[in-house]
Amino acid sequence: MQMLDLVHRRRREGRDTIMLCAGQPATGAPASALAAAGDELHASALGYTEVIGDRDLRETVAAWHSETYGVDTAAEKVVITTGSSGGFVAAFLATLDHGDVVALSCPGYPAYRNILGSLGARVVDLVCDETTRFQPTADMLEALPAQDRPKAVIVTSPGNPSGTIIDPAELERIAKWCEDNGAVLISDEDYHGMSFGRPLATARQFSDRAIVVGTLSKYFSMTGWRVGWLILPDELITPVENLQASLALCAPAISQIAGRAAFSPEARAELDTHVERYRAARRVLLHELPKIGFTRFAEPDGGLYLWLDVSHVTDDSEAWCHELVEEIGVAFAPGVDFDPVNGHKWVRLSLCAPESETREACRRLGEYVSAR
Ligand SMILES: Cc1ncc(COP(=O)(O)O)c(C=O)c1O
Repeated sequence: MQMLDLVHRRRREGRDTIMLCAGQPATGAPASALAAAGDELHASALGYTEVIGDRDLRETVAAWHSETYGVDTAAEKVVITTGSSGGFVAAFLATLDHGDVVALSCPGYPAYRNILGSLGARVVDLVCDETTRFQPTADMLEALPAQDRPKAVIVTSPGNPSGTIIDPAELERIAKWCEDNGAVLISDEDYHGMSFGRPLATARQFSDRAIVVGTLSKYFSMTGWRVGWLILPDELITPVENLQASLALCAPAISQIAGRAAFSPEARAELDTHVERYRAARRVLLHELPKIGFTRFAEPDGGLYLWLDVSHVTDDSEAWCHELVEEIGVAFAPGVDFDPVNGHKWVRLSLCAPESETREACRRLGEYVSAR
């Protein structure tokens, strides 16, 4: 977020800056969602919705989830939240006590660690690299010592920052391990809808004890509308509803109405064109980065990111990212937030910039690196 602020400041000053640090689509909501929001603005007082979310949206999410993955997800199991961020807080509060252990992949999305820390949970890192395509495995869980056996396990696929997709068979093994060991599986499926070819499985294919987290922020291109959802096992529905009643009362009403329209076939056709743009940016990065000496990275299977080893040019990725913005007007996200141990040697690149800007960023980076 600091890098984003820096980019915005430079752009206000009229200084050209290519933004490869963003964790959000550069596109807006699909046209049908905008039209639905416009209609609703005039038609409704926009009061609170049901605490667990607008019934029609819950049914829409349930139908989409059922059709996409061949599962039977009932609307009763879906709770609409203020972004998936709101869903995480509710899910953690509903499942964890102070001092409980949560296992998650490192590198990983920093907010889990931050929220869990503030709730008094203890994070156990599942250190992931190219040997497991930057995804955790059931073997890693099995190898944890007794004192680190988790109460919950978080899996993120496609990953942030890795962009890798966990193999369905491995997700199944993790789901089984969680069931056998009394751990709650929390599957962050925020980047679903964005695969460059690999199959994407939902954790609910393998366990109806799993919590699935989803959002309108990524594939659905409605980041600032702040709508996400949880798909919950039966016994967590009422606790999460009660928490949500106190934490948020409800997700934004206008966004829920607009969000419904984002699942329509016309909206999906529009959203799928965005995925083609991410695919094009990915192709550029996979082609250009090795040519300029950056050969170690997680090859993105989906999502919005590429995780890049920069250890041959810096051991302080944060300082290096600031340097790159100042010197060549290219912004990456430093790895330190995603990996507290090795992140100083890594950066995260976003696939959200147009192909031409991504190419230009590689050109500038190549020139800069070869001049040193
Ligand atoms: C892996 C992951 N989970 C959750 C979120 C939170 O997204 P939101 O609250 O917008 O749904 C993000 C945002 O970048 C993310 O990358």
